[in-house]
Amino acid sequence: MDSKLAASAVGRRGPRWWQTGVVYEIYPRSFADSNGDGVGDLAGITARLDYLAWLGIDAIWIAPFYPSPMADFGYDVANYTDVDPIFGSLADFDALLGGAHARGIRVLIDYVPNHTSDQHPWFRESRASRDNPRRNWYYWRDAKPDGELPNNWISMFAGPAWEWDEATGQFYLHTFLKEQPDLNWRNSDARAAMFDAARFWLDRGVDGFRIDVAPMVMKDPELRDNPPNPDWDGTHRLGTWGMQLHDNDHAHPDMHPLYRDFRRLLESYDGDRVSIGELHHPDFDRWAAYYGEEQDEIHIPFNFHLTHAPWTADGIRRAIEGVQGVLPPGAYANWVLGNHDQPRFASPHRGGRDQARVALLLLLTLRGNPTLYYGEEIGMVDVPVATEDSHDPLERREPGRGRDPERSPMQWDASPNAGFCPPHVSPWLPIARDAAEVNVAAQGEDPDSLLTLTRRLLKLRREHPILLGGEFEALGPTPDGIYAFRRTAGHGRVTVALNLTGQPRTLPAAGDGRVLIGTHRDRDGSDATGDLELRPNEAVVIEEPAAG
Ligand code: GLC
Repeated sequence: MDSKLAASAVGRRGPRWWQTGVVYEIYPRSFADSNGDGVGDLAGITARLDYLAWLGIDAIWIAPFYPSPMADFGYDVANYTDVDPIFGSLADFDALLGGAHARGIRVLIDYVPNHTSDQHPWFRESRASRDNPRRNWYYWRDAKPDGELPNNWISMFAGPAWEWDEATGQFYLHTFLKEQPDLNWRNSDARAAMFDAARFWLDRGVDGFRIDVAPMVMKDPELRDNPPNPDWDGTHRLGTWGMQLHDNDHAHPDMHPLYRDFRRLLESYDGDRVSIGELHHPDFDRWAAYYGEEQDEIHIPFNFHLTHAPWTADGIRRAIEGVQGVLPPGAYANWVLGNHDQPRFASPHRGGRDQARVALLLLLTLRGNPTLYYGEEIGMVDVPVATEDSHDPLERREPGRGRDPERSPMQWDASPNAGFCPPHVSPWLPIARDAAEVNVAAQGEDPDSLLTLTRRLLKLRREHPILLGGEFEALGPTPDGIYAFRRTAGHGRVTVALNLTGQPRTLPAAGDGRVLIGTHRDRDGSDATGDLELRPNEAVVIEEPAAG
């Protein structure tokens, strides 16, 4: 392992790298196109590693780049141990990994265990005949005597979760598209093959995995029906998926021993390798269960509570304090504002550009491990794509749910395709209309930009022991529209106060100290005594002198 990484993995006191490290998510199709085909690739990421090192993140997570028919843009994997030519080759991956490690950046990759592509050789064999040795690697079931589907499960991408296979006269299960058949993790050979796929990348030197839809892998062994959702009113963030309570199609308790085994696999390697699990349980206790009773399961359970919270002082208080309240002893939380499946934070229908600074200041001062989504640091917003032009199959199946808008190309500079791909090439998704102003080159030189603020926050949290590892302390009640909390360590304490509104607000008796950093640069280094006047959309971090 590179010596920079080794130094942070061993012999350091305080939190482990993954408990407080900042992960930066890269959607590889949209980050940087090195070969001029309008689609981002691995060599494009390698060419931007200096930027990521300059920004000051600790790790990147790269969404899938495996060979794939791209029915779900790489989340339909046809080979777990190679690179799709559109993204490059294994040699390109090794160059990216080596380049990242040389800069002290860890590399996490997506691991998609719940389903393969229907073009994966395992599934092709499985569907070849009922007695194929790989038949039970997937879920095959007869129709009910009346010809009905085997159970009432629905796809998260709309419609039934079962597809009829004419050739062998059975249905197979697909929680997502029919091109994404679910793997049967109760089959020991399938499970061993998936563990081998993980070993392939661990042997190559990856620092861990983001586990796609982690709870999906373990379903009710009898595949019983889901009960209806008594609160269903026809609207749900996940469309018709909201019609049912998903008691039986995912999150069976058997996933706990599975993720304990997976952790043992990671820990059999040196260098502090980790798993990040994608989880969407709205219930705090169910979410926290993924740490494991002995904190021996998923290292970083992804925490979407802030992503889905109403962007109000009360909304974020409930999300933050709900999470802090259920953390196992000594555990750190993950925090995330958005990703390749969620509307971008700075979009008007989410927090909005005015609140983007407040949100990043919050994300980077909370206790734990924050995840940034590429472009958040410059305030990228969703770029609308009409249903008829959409690439994401979800948009065509349930209009309004498409994820193309948050996957628009990274805005590097003011050139015609924002520096994402050469000017004469058509990028796979449209470039934002404001890219000539909102881009890395312009903001990198502007001391007042969001990018500069993000970079300064990242530096501060690396260097400030209280921000890095200090405890979280709720503060309250606070006046309407303000959210505030403390970070403490030993005698030291830091107060973070956020104005979630577009009007001035006062936080009485905020404490006496000095502003370490604020969303508005003119505050930095100023004294803060007594009542704290916050301007519209302003947030500050105040350090109080250590008591006695
Ligand atoms: C996860 C991914 C999403 C994908 C789905 C199916 O939620 O983040 O992009 O479509 O899994 O693999």
